[in-house]
Amino acid sequence: MDETCMANTMKTKIAHPKLNSGDWSGSCLSTESTLHQLSPYIGKIKSVFARKLITTYSKPRDIILDPFAGSGTVAFESLIAERHAIANDVNPYAVTLIKAKMFPPKSFEEAIKKVEHYNSLSEKRSKNVDLEEVPDWVKKFYHQDTLKEITSLSQLLRENNENFLLACLLGILHHERPGFLSYPASHLVPYLRTKKYPPKKYPDMYSYRDVESRLIKKIQRAYKRFPEIDKTLGRICFQKDAKQLVLQENSIDAVISSPPYMNALDYARDNRLRLWVLGESDYKKYDAKSPRNIEDFKKLMKTVMKNIYPALKVDSYCIFVLGDVNKSKKSINTASAVIGLASDIGGFNCEGFIRDEVPAFRRSRKDGACTKNEWIVVLRKVS
Ligand SMILES: C[S@@+](CC[C@H](N)C(=O)[O-])C[C@H]1O[C@@H](n2cnc3c(N)ncnc32)[C@H](O)[C@@H]1O
Repeated sequence: MDETCMANTMKTKIAHPKLNSGDWSGSCLSTESTLHQLSPYIGKIKSVFARKLITTYSKPRDIILDPFAGSGTVAFESLIAERHAIANDVNPYAVTLIKAKMFPPKSFEEAIKKVEHYNSLSEKRSKNVDLEEVPDWVKKFYHQDTLKEITSLSQLLRENNENFLLACLLGILHHERPGFLSYPASHLVPYLRTKKYPPKKYPDMYSYRDVESRLIKKIQRAYKRFPEIDKTLGRICFQKDAKQLVLQENSIDAVISSPPYMNALDYARDNRLRLWVLGESDYKKYDAKSPRNIEDFKKLMKTVMKNIYPALKVDSYCIFVLGDVNKSKKSINTASAVIGLASDIGGFNCEGFIRDEVPAFRRSRKDGACTKNEWIVVLRKVS
C-alpha cells in the first residue's frame, strides 16, 4: 500500500477501542518490580504499558514472543502475568539483562552467597589484572584499583554465566552517586562530568570505590519488589539478528515488540562501557544491525514479519510499538510503513492503532532524530 495513502488512513481511523493511553500514563517506578530497574536501557518501554498490552492481547499460559526485546520488559512482564516468554535481541547487554530477569537467584540470600563466593575468587585474580590491556577511554572512568576489581569480577561472572550478578554490576558501573563505581559520570550513557565536579574540588569522587559493598546494596534494591513467578513457565532467550530467528510453525500466541526506530537511538554505542565490561570491545558491529534509514527499516521488518507469520497462530495478535522519527525537519512515520508491509505480506488485518505522545522528558537525544509520537499498531493474523 502507498505510504501517503496509509498516513492519511491513519489520520482518520479511530484508535483501537481496547487501548487507552490513560491506562499507562504516570510513573510506575515505585510500583513495578525492582528487577525492571537492574540497569538502564535506552528506548525501554514502561512496564505498566507492557503489562497492559500482554493482558489485552493474550491469556494466561500463552506463549509471547518479543524479537527486539531490549532490556526484557515484555518478557519479564509476560512471566509475571503467567505467560511463557521468548525473547531475542542482537545486543549482548540486552541479553544479559533479559537473562538476569528470566533466571534470577531464588532469593536475596542466595544472591548474596554468590557475591561472597565470586568476590573471594576475584580478590586473588584482581592483583594480576594488567591495566595496560585496558583502553584509555575506559581507564578515564575509574580509579585503577576499582577497575581491577571490576575487570576480574566481571570475567569470573561471564565465565560462570552469572547474568543476574553481571546485570547488577552493569547497573552500578557509572553515575555520579556514591553507590556507583565510576568517577562522576552520567548514568544512562557514559559521559564524564569532570567539568561539573573538578577533581580538586571533589577529591572523594575520584577515590577508590570497592565493588563488593556497592554490589550488595544494588542487590538489596533489586530484591525490594521481587515477584513470585510460576516455575513451570517456559523462558527462552536468543541472541540473534531478528532476521535470522527460526521459529516453530504455529507455536506463538502473541508477538509484542518495539522494534529499533531507524537511527534514533544507538543501543550499543550508548552502552559501550557496559559492553566493554561484557568483553565486547567492538560495539559498532551491533549498532550496524539496527536500521539507519527507512529502507533498511522496511527490509528488516519485512523479513521479521514474514518469519513471524507462520509461527503465529491464526487469530493471534502481533503488536508493534513504533516511533515517528524526525530527520532533516521531516517526520517519518514508521507505523504507517509497518501497516503497509502487513498489507503487502497479506494474512494480517490491521485492527487499529493508537497514538501516544512521548513526553519531552522521555525523549532521547540524537541530533533532532528523536521520537515525538509513539504508535501502537495492532495486527491480527486472519488466515
Ligand atoms: C526499542 S528497543 C527495545 C526496547 C524494549 N522493548 C525494552 O523495553 O527494553 C529495540 C531493540 O532492538 C534491538 N535490535 C536492533 N536491531 C536488531 C536486530 N536486527 N535484531 C535483533 N535485535 C535488534 C536493539 O538492540 C534494541 O534493544
